[in-house]
Amino acid sequence: MKIKKAVIPIAGKGTRFLPATKEIAKEIIPILNIPMIHHIVVEAVESGIEQIIFVTSAGKFAVEDYFDRNLELEAFLEKAGKTKELEMIRKIGTMVDVTSVRQKEQLGLGHAVLMAQELVGQETFAVLLGDDIVMNDVPCTKQLMEVSKRHGGAPVIGVMNVPREDTSKYGIVRGTPLPDDKMTLRMEGMVEKPKPDQAPTTLATPGRYILSPEIFSILKEIPRGAGNEYQLTDAINILCGRRDVYAHQFQGERFDTGHLMGYLDATVDFALRDPALRPAFVEILKQKVLKHKVIL
Ligand code: G1P
Repeated sequence: MKIKKAVIPIAGKGTRFLPATKEIAKEIIPILNIPMIHHIVVEAVESGIEQIIFVTSAGKFAVEDYFDRNLELEAFLEKAGKTKELEMIRKIGTMVDVTSVRQKEQLGLGHAVLMAQELVGQETFAVLLGDDIVMNDVPCTKQLMEVSKRHGGAPVIGVMNVPREDTSKYGIVRGTPLPDDKMTLRMEGMVEKPKPDQAPTTLATPGRYILSPEIFSILKEIPRGAGNEYQLTDAINILCGRRDVYAHQFQGERFDTGHLMGYLDATVDFALRDPALRPAFVEILKQKVLKHKVIL
């Protein structure tokens, strides 16, 4: 069955981006002129998602507004003859159906996903976390959907290889590669943020999941886990004992925009990818290297 719904938790306070996040939602902070959340929603839409369910908290109205029509702005752009901008703004406001549900207390990712239970209903659904942007011709979520489809609609966790010293930043999976598809593992379990010497593998999830609705009853049962929070990882770990769950090493370049250095990396990279910006930006970079006496 087609996966139509995606849950995107955006209730976090964005403390790593203070003071900007004192008054604006972290998700609206742009890379160049495109808000980070735009990239996540486009990945979902290009994967075939028809409904986005944001799990929000106070002060996140700008994210919902961003994906709504802005008729006043549209009328202004139309009158000003700014056709290209008008098209862009209309497209953003009409590309997908958006709903939201509040997470009243920030009790962890597992708790956030549980808030979406009623809106998801009895369907297999996607979860995308906003701190990571994955660039690829075939979107990351679509790749996971294809693996899920090949395995009768089973849950699939997107994974990537990380340096062992980084395992404590992620949910880490364990499992056995499939004989006919080395990029996919039948999962045996999953652990949240293990220390490098305790990590079963170096396959980490940057926050891309295809989940079946049984996850909700598990999320209601689990105790608090790592960081004293209700962890999605712990629920997936239990799910692995109840049915086949897969992990898939997706294709694509991933940017960790959840912290400043990753954000800077993405900004420079996206500017260099843009043919309209690249020549002038390369000149600026050369001048900065000279001005700041950077030794390359
Ligand atoms: C969350 C998840 C973790 C995942 C990570 C990806 O952790 O709990 O399993 O690997 O997102 O960014 P957080 O970074 O919110 O602490």
